[in-house]
Amino acid sequence: MQVLVTGGLGVNGSWVLRKLVEEGERPICFDYSSDTSLVSDIVNKIQVVKGDISDGEAVLKAVKENSVNSVIHVAALVSPDVTSLDPMKANPVKGFEVNARGTLNILEAAKVSGVKRVVYTSSKGVYGEITGSYGHPYYHPVTEEHPKNPLSIYDITKLFGEHLGELYSRLYGIEFVSLRFAHIYGPGKLERHGPLSVHDRILMNAINNVRTKIERGGDGRDDLIYVRDVGKAVVLAWKASKLPHQAYNFGTGRAYSLKEFAVAVKELFPQAEIEIGPGLGYYGESVKGTACAIDYGLAREDLGFYPDYDLGSGVRDYVKWITNR
Ligand SMILES: NC(=O)c1ccc[n+]([C@@H]2O[C@H](COP(=O)([O-])OP(=O)(O)OC[C@H]3O[C@@H](n4cnc5c(N)ncnc54)[C@H](O)[C@@H]3O)[C@@H](O)[C@H]2O)c1
Repeated sequence: MQVLVTGGLGVNGSWVLRKLVEEGERPICFDYSSDTSLVSDIVNKIQVVKGDISDGEAVLKAVKENSVNSVIHVAALVSPDVTSLDPMKANPVKGFEVNARGTLNILEAAKVSGVKRVVYTSSKGVYGEITGSYGHPYYHPVTEEHPKNPLSIYDITKLFGEHLGELYSRLYGIEFVSLRFAHIYGPGKLERHGPLSVHDRILMNAINNVRTKIERGGDGRDDLIYVRDVGKAVVLAWKASKLPHQAYNFGTGRAYSLKEFAVAVKELFPQAEIEIGPGLGYYGESVKGTACAIDYGLAREDLGFYPDYDLGSGVRDYVKWITNR
């Protein structure tokens, strides 16, 4: 099976590639970036094809020329303008072109080239605002059946991609599966996603001996999945002999507060100065609460997934990875 991974040079994609290399694959990475810093350890074990997923011809060429028969579609814009609900900052056109048209291009290329399976990285963002017993302070874990009320163009395009994939599956028989991830933390995220990476900022500041001050949100909880578990989840779905469901949740099953994250960091860096104000909403008041705990029971049953990392071991591995590079 020749597998192509879109967005392989990013935070999550790099761990997908690493996991595929461990499985004995030589994956093709299709990415419009030239920054291979997150895959420097495996760059000789992958093939990097530079291209834009918004360019249908480029996608088709990469799939055809390399006899690709499975695609792991990770590439997307995960930037503040695409996730924003602020009319002065949001950029729906940009979000649509990459995240929606890009997914259409992948599925079209898959259709005409006879690709057997497409694995799609989606997000808990498809559920939108989390309220009632699923929201603060209860955090009853959210299953795949939870109502879908996406808010930002990012969340809307993630859900659109899921439906589009299901359509291509029905019409053309492509095996398609959506993986809905909880909030992810891991090396490289702060550089890539800036203000969307509050947890990573706390950790990177501690490593770099920089003081952290966050005005509010210390009590806000969210399910946090470590990026190595994301790579594991994706490859489990990619190699599963059967995919009984078309969408799976991935998280740890519990919601951690920002203050708990800071405590985990301080266990490794007792001198770190971390000041976090109380309350919810560490991204600011204009952001609606999509924080939740994720029920990954379906993925456990069908794919044998369980997270290898809890908060403490995830933070420890993250620090080890950064400081050893
Ligand atoms: N980070 C999270 O918390 C989170 C949570 C749930 C789901 N996801 C999903 O995981 C996937 C990857 O996210 P990430 O955190 O690794 O982001 P990232 O920004 O680190 O990686 C995205 C990669 O896609 C590439 N890319 C972007 N636009 C492209 C285009 N037009 N053509 C080709 N390549 C392009 C980028 O260069 C980058 O290497 C996305 O689909 C995202 O929706 C992320």
